[in-house]
Amino acid sequence: MLLNLKKVFTIFLVLFLPLIFHHAFAQQRYNNFKPGKIWEDNKGKHINAHGGGVTEIDGVYYWYGEHKVAGNIGNTAQVGVHCYSSKDLYNWKDEGIALKVSDDLSSDIAKGCILERPKVVFNKRTKKFVMWFHLELLGKGYEAARAGVAIADRASGPFLFARSYRPNPNKLPVYPNAESQKQAVNCSSPANKSDGFFCRDMPGGQMARDMTVYVDDDGKAYHIFSSEENFTLHLAELSDDYLSHTGKFIRIYIGQQTEAPALFKKDGKYYMVGSGCTGWAPNPARWFVADSIWGPWKYMGNPCIGEGSALTFGGQSTHIFKAPGTKNQFIFMADQWTPKNPIDGKYLWLPIDFNEGKMEISWNDRWDLSVWKK
Ligand code: DGJ
Repeated sequence: MLLNLKKVFTIFLVLFLPLIFHHAFAQQRYNNFKPGKIWEDNKGKHINAHGGGVTEIDGVYYWYGEHKVAGNIGNTAQVGVHCYSSKDLYNWKDEGIALKVSDDLSSDIAKGCILERPKVVFNKRTKKFVMWFHLELLGKGYEAARAGVAIADRASGPFLFARSYRPNPNKLPVYPNAESQKQAVNCSSPANKSDGFFCRDMPGGQMARDMTVYVDDDGKAYHIFSSEENFTLHLAELSDDYLSHTGKFIRIYIGQQTEAPALFKKDGKYYMVGSGCTGWAPNPARWFVADSIWGPWKYMGNPCIGEGSALTFGGQSTHIFKAPGTKNQFIFMADQWTPKNPIDGKYLWLPIDFNEGKMEISWNDRWDLSVWKK
């Protein structure tokens, strides 16, 4: 009997110990960020969450992004939105596909559509997770320019697709300050190209491409997106349940072609980083600052400094979020796109510094969250 127990125990050790060890170590592989390098998840696969964002819920971070596949077809949505979770931001557990594209060709999110830059926010009132994304209908290139929204009860999904549309039909922007009033759009005689696109799109709603969602301290949420054929950004208020637009919005940096917006708030001021508009190719980043979410948003130039700064170190902004364990420090997330083989795209995460009120992002081969403690 004793011999049998010994045997069973030995078999257990031989079979399961390596698995237990592997699991323990697989969870703790990284203790720093290496921008632009392969970044493996808990299964040893390069993280597949492009154009993404990070949402924190009770100390757990969820990274959502576009799941890309190999080859040119990977520039369309073949799978959906991938979700990973982490407690330390270095090591990420694969949580699977949070929003799946549909096999039903009549669905707005039919497999093969273009589904970009998903961002998830948690609504404290409804207790729902709300995902917004840029949606292009199957086979229509980039002409639909819609905002899509999906809802889930759990952070990792499954998210249920709700609808897609062009925001704010038949609405004019608000002009909360003298500066914006000066640029009021006049559809009987549009002052420039961008105003012309705005007026053209009033009946059906405004174009909504590159985007982010920002939740302010008071729980109000805003959808910020490239509109007017990518000429002008719109910052639009969302309803209390975060599932629709209220019709109140402003236009930002009219006619200057800003993409890839990412927003954050620090010491009572609002900051935004975006990019220029050059397809998948990198260009100089740009930043803006405002005392109120409703502007005026002041253009401040390129936040990147040092070697590689003229092309955002080969990346394009996607999201900015508060670093854990810090009072008010922020992490810049960017994508290094590889459109010929999109699945190969890498991620640039860099710390944001402020130097006499000026935002600065510099290259760092390897860094960790202790940078702010030095
Ligand atoms: C740049 C945008 O930032 C990306 O999200 C994507 O839409 C590409 N353009 C497509 O060329």
